[in-house]
Amino acid sequence: MEVELPWGARCAAAAFFVSSLCVAALGVVLLLLRRWPWCGCHVCRAYLAGSWRREFANLGDWYADLLRRSPTGTVHVHVLGCTVTANPANVEYMLKTRFDNFPKGRPFAALLGDLLGDGIFNVDGDAWRHQRKMASLELGSVAVRSYAYKIVAQEVEARLMPVLANAADSGAVVDLQDVFRRFAFDTICKISFGLDPGCLDREMPVSELADAFDAASRLSAMRGAAASPLLWKMKRFLNVGSERELKKAIKLIDGLAAAMIRERRKLGVANSHDLLSRFMASSGDDARGAADDKFLRDIVVSFLLAGRDTVSSALTTLFMILSKNPDVAAAMRAEAGAAAGESAAVSYEHLKRLNYTHAVLYENMRLFPPVQFDSKFCAAADVLPDGTYVDGGARVMYHPYAMGRMPRIWGADCDAFRPERWLTGAGGAFVPESLFKYPVFQAGLRVCLGKELAITEMKAVSVAVVRAFDVEVVGENGRCGGGGAAAPRFVPGLTASISGGLPVKIRRV
Ligand code: HEM
Ligand SMILES: *[C@@H]1O[C@H](CO)[C@@H](O)[C@H](O)[C@H]1NC(C)=O
Repeated sequence: MEVELPWGARCAAAAFFVSSLCVAALGVVLLLLRRWPWCGCHVCRAYLAGSWRREFANLGDWYADLLRRSPTGTVHVHVLGCTVTANPANVEYMLKTRFDNFPKGRPFAALLGDLLGDGIFNVDGDAWRHQRKMASLELGSVAVRSYAYKIVAQEVEARLMPVLANAADSGAVVDLQDVFRRFAFDTICKISFGLDPGCLDREMPVSELADAFDAASRLSAMRGAAASPLLWKMKRFLNVGSERELKKAIKLIDGLAAAMIRERRKLGVANSHDLLSRFMASSGDDARGAADDKFLRDIVVSFLLAGRDTVSSALTTLFMILSKNPDVAAAMRAEAGAAAGESAAVSYEHLKRLNYTHAVLYENMRLFPPVQFDSKFCAAADVLPDGTYVDGGARVMYHPYAMGRMPRIWGADCDAFRPERWLTGAGGAFVPESLFKYPVFQAGLRVCLGKELAITEMKAVSVAVVRAFDVEVVGENGRCGGGGAAAPRFVPGLTASISGGLPVKIRRV
C-alpha cells in the first residue's frame, strides 16, 4: 500500500532532490574543468590514457623514469596541477628553508580529517608545533624508549617467532606481509596505550580495531583519488557508498579509543610508560574533560597510523630482497652472531652496534621507501632552487621512491642492492646520507619522530628471524630481478604494500 506523504514533506523531498542534482552537475562541471585534457604534452597524454602501464608496473616507476630524464629532476603533470620533484635542493627548500610556505594544506587535511581529526599528522601551524614538542619529548625519553624496546622484544619472542616456527614445521606457505602487519599493529597498540589487540596469536583472530583501521585508511586514501573533492563531499553529505563505510569504521575506532582513554584514567597514569599515559600526565589531564578526550583520541590515532603500516611495509620488502640475496642474509647472521657472543639473544645494546644490519635496512628503504611520495601545498607563489616556478595554491610532491633510483644521487649502480654503499666510515662503519637526498623519514622540521624506534624495531625483528630461519619467496610477487630495483606491483595507498601479499616458505637454519 502506498503511503500518501503530506504536501510539505513532498515539497521538501523534491527540493532536496533538485539541490542534490545541482551539486552533482556542479561536480561534473568541475571534474571536466580539472581533468579536461587541454594539455597535449606527452606526460599528460600518458597519464590520462594510462598508457604508462604498458611499460611500468607502478605509477612510481613511471615517475622515476620521467624524473631521471628531466635535466632538473623535476616534472610537471599539468592535468593534475602538480609539480613532482626528485631534486634534493628542492626538497631541502620545501622541508627546511621555506618550511612555512609549504604546509600540508587544507585539501590534504580534509581527506584524512574525519579519521585523524587534529592529530599531529594532519595539522599545520601552532596546533602542529604544540603536539610536535610534546611527542618529541616523550619519544626521546629514555623511559619510553626502553619500554618500547621491551614490548618489541616480547612480541618477537612470544608471538612472531612461534608463528614462523609453526609455518616452518608444517611446511605451509604464509603471507609474510600479513604476518608483519599483525605484528606491527600489536606492537604499536601496546606502545601507544598499553593495550593488546592480540592480532598475532597463533590462530590469528581477526581484530575489529585492525580491520576498522585498514578500512578507514584505505577509504580515506580513496578520497584523494576522486576527480574532484566535491564528489566525496557529496557522498559524505548523503551518507552513501564508501563514505558510509568510512563513517562506520571511524565510529568503531572512536568507540574503542574512548574505552581505552576511560580505562587508562581508571588505572591511573603515574607509573605507565605507554604514550597515552605519558600524554595524559604531561597535559595535566585529570582535571579536564571531553575536550581533552578528543585531543587524546586524535593523538593516539595518528600514532597508530604512523607506526604500523610503515614498519610492516619495510620488513616485507626487506625479506623479499633477502630471499634474492642469500649472501646478505648470511652476512647479517654472522654480524649478529659475533655481537651476541655466548648469549643466545641479541640485547638492545647489541642491536645498536650492528652497522651492517643498519646499512641493510637503509638500503632496503632506499629502493622501497614505505611512504613513496609526500605532497605539500604551496601557499604563496614561489621559485624552487632548480628554477621551477610554482603557483600559489598548487601541489608540489617530492618522491622518495624515485629519488632512490636516481643515478645522479646514488651513482650508476643505483639499481643494485648494495649495503656497502652506506659503510664508508672508519673500519666500515655506517655513515648516514643527507636526509634531503634520502627523505624516507621526511626531513627538516617535520622529520619522522619514530625513526629511532622504527629502526630498533626492524633490527630486532630482522635479526631474530634471519638467525632462526631461511625465508624463500614463492611465486611472482617478490619478483625483483637479481636483487636490484625492479619492483613488485604495489597497491596505491598511503603506505606501500605489495599487491597480493608476499607468500613465503620458512625453513629453520
Ligand atoms: C619504517 C618506518 C617509518 C617510516 C618510513 C616513517 C616515515 C615517516 C614520514 C615520511 C613522515 C612524514 C609524513 C608526512 O608528514 O606526510 C613521518 C612522520 C611521523 N612519524 Fe614516522 N615513519 C616510520 C615509523 C614511525 C613510527 C614507528 C612512529 C611512532 C612511534 C612514527 C611516528 C611519526 C610521527 C609522530 C610523525 C609526524 C611528525 C610531524 O608531523 O611532525 N613513525 N614518518
Ligand atoms: C657502528 O658500530 C659502532 C662501534 O661498535 C657503534 O658505536 C655504532 O653505534 C654503530 N652504528 C650503527 C649505525 O649501527
